[in-house]
Amino acid sequence: MQKNQTKTFTSAFEQEVYEGLTSFPKHLSSKYFYDEIGDKLFQDIMAMPEYYLTNREYEILETNKTSIAALLSQNGEPFSLFELGAGDGKKTKILLRYLVNNDFDFDYRPIDISQNALDQLEQSLKQEIPQLEINTLQGTYFDTLRDIDKVNGRKKVILFLGSNIGNLLHEPAIEFLKNLRDSINEGDLILMGFDQKKNPQTILDAYNDKTGITEAFNKNILARINRELDGNFVLDNFLHWEVYDPETGTAKSFLVSKEHQEVSIESLQLQIRLKKWETIHTEISQKYDDATVEWLAEQSGLQIVTEFADSQNQYKNYVFKK
Ligand code: AVJ
Repeated sequence: MQKNQTKTFTSAFEQEVYEGLTSFPKHLSSKYFYDEIGDKLFQDIMAMPEYYLTNREYEILETNKTSIAALLSQNGEPFSLFELGAGDGKKTKILLRYLVNNDFDFDYRPIDISQNALDQLEQSLKQEIPQLEINTLQGTYFDTLRDIDKVNGRKKVILFLGSNIGNLLHEPAIEFLKNLRDSINEGDLILMGFDQKKNPQTILDAYNDKTGITEAFNKNILARINRELDGNFVLDNFLHWEVYDPETGTAKSFLVSKEHQEVSIESLQLQIRLKKWETIHTEISQKYDDATVEWLAEQSGLQIVTEFADSQNQYKNYVFKK
């Protein structure tokens, strides 16, 4: 079968949807989960008891905010605090409040792919921590890294919380970390969250809640294709399916076709067919252990300065330098 080389796309979303749905096996990228509805669903996920990641990281930041603040500011030098994929900033606010209340000299630069998330974050921060100096940046990780590189003079601290790194398999994660390394100077620091390997059932429950919020989140990518690209996916014709491999630490999400079905996506002039039980792979959520994080750091030219764990060792925040 030949690919249509004359196809032109007006956005990366269009192109990736086209390529993903004409591949075998089919796939869609989880980075497109996050439109306005997806952002809201992810906030609901973070509030679910099964989604332990948020509370574990919250606990780490709350317990260690004094040492983290001292570490990030080093000799009380002014710094810019960047945050990649800032989301609603619930956890970051612990640090921000502490830094502001203790007169640390810094500004906060949240970066997110979603302008909607940034607007909401800025609004709530202006209310909750009015003294905070905040400059939002909308963009992809790639643009983000360029922006970070442009800020000269001030020390940089980069936050990447929530185990967002887990959306990348190891090879792209190393590429990402290398890019991050190249965008910082000696003395700059990176604070990054890595969800840890644990009882596999705990992980499956976190990504397959009984209330169906994660299912709706996963299916939102089909709903978004319907909304934005004039598709006609029937969401009920798909199962949300989660698997976790305790050896590799990789959790994967799928949408499984319950029927033989045809779907058309008008904006792409695309008709696809799904066989009964055919899959669309949508997300990976990688889980880590110390050896793996040490290996990732080594592969990307970073050094681990220190790490902070929650009381149950379910989740860790590592601090890296170059
Ligand atoms: C935002 C990528 C960290 O993988 O745990 C939550 C997204 N997916 N439930 C994760 C997600 C399903 C989340 N990250």
